[in-house]
Amino acid sequence: MSEQYPVTEQVVASFANSKSDRYREVMQSLVRHLHAFAADVRLSQDEWDTAIDFLTRVGHITDDRRQEFILLSDVLGLSMLTVAINADTEGATESTVLGPFFVADAPEIELGGDLAQGAKGTPCYVSGVVRSADGTTLPGARIDAWEADEDGFYDVQYTGDRTAGRGWLRAGPQGEYRFWSVLPSPYPIPHDGPVGELLTAGQRGPMRPAHLHFKVAAPGYRPLVTHVFVKGDPYLGEDAVFGVRDGLIADFAAHDGGTAPDGTERAGRWAQLTFDLVLAPEEGK
Ligand code: BEZ
Ligand code: FE
Repeated sequence: MSEQYPVTEQVVASFANSKSDRYREVMQSLVRHLHAFAADVRLSQDEWDTAIDFLTRVGHITDDRRQEFILLSDVLGLSMLTVAINADTEGATESTVLGPFFVADAPEIELGGDLAQGAKGTPCYVSGVVRSADGTTLPGARIDAWEADEDGFYDVQYTGDRTAGRGWLRAGPQGEYRFWSVLPSPYPIPHDGPVGELLTAGQRGPMRPAHLHFKVAAPGYRPLVTHVFVKGDPYLGEDAVFGVRDGLIADFAAHDGGTAPDGTERAGRWAQLTFDLVLAPEEGK
């Protein structure tokens, strides 16, 4: 046990009359843990200065297009811990981090359509069923999907406002979904800012294993935010944001030519992912 200092209980007591019980609980616990951490490492004045400078720079680099605070939460595993606390329901697809590259107003594509829209990479046919754990299919579920191209960049990381490698579609009458996109590639998280310095100082890498993001919504069900990771990816064991979960690693089967499941004749290499998206009923349902 590290030494206790009188200031800790004074600050804890200062939140005693908080507007809500929850606010008091959160703030008093935050103060206790923050003080315990500083006492534990015997935080020096220089280290305190460095931390304030670091957080200041995290703030300065953050704007509408870049959220360095979320990235900081991601590389410290806080985002993934929050996902785990608000845990999955038995039988549903596991959740993982949303990440900074989701775009709320992506274009709609038709069932079976092309989500790549010019994104570079090996064509990939993605299909499955949106259903609940008891097998109930969820026709009309909204499926948002987005991914990096074969160079490891999302469309929003390029200059201009081209949309590629993202879109949304509705599941068909049997809950089925299908679209063409590209085989995901591993990529580094943005590491040219303070969070990159933090990784470098810890001799940690910035890479994320290849993945395809999904956000799925259906009335009466908890929204699902997840990715599907490519089996065999070299970075599965060292994801910079700790987002990998075993149930989300899937086979992206490799094909060379032949007839795709939608009947199209393919010349050259293509990949195929079959993955059911399983939602949990909303609480109380
Ligand atoms: C992503 O998968 O898009 C992502 C998640 C966390 C940090 C950076 C990127
Ligand atoms: Fe991603």
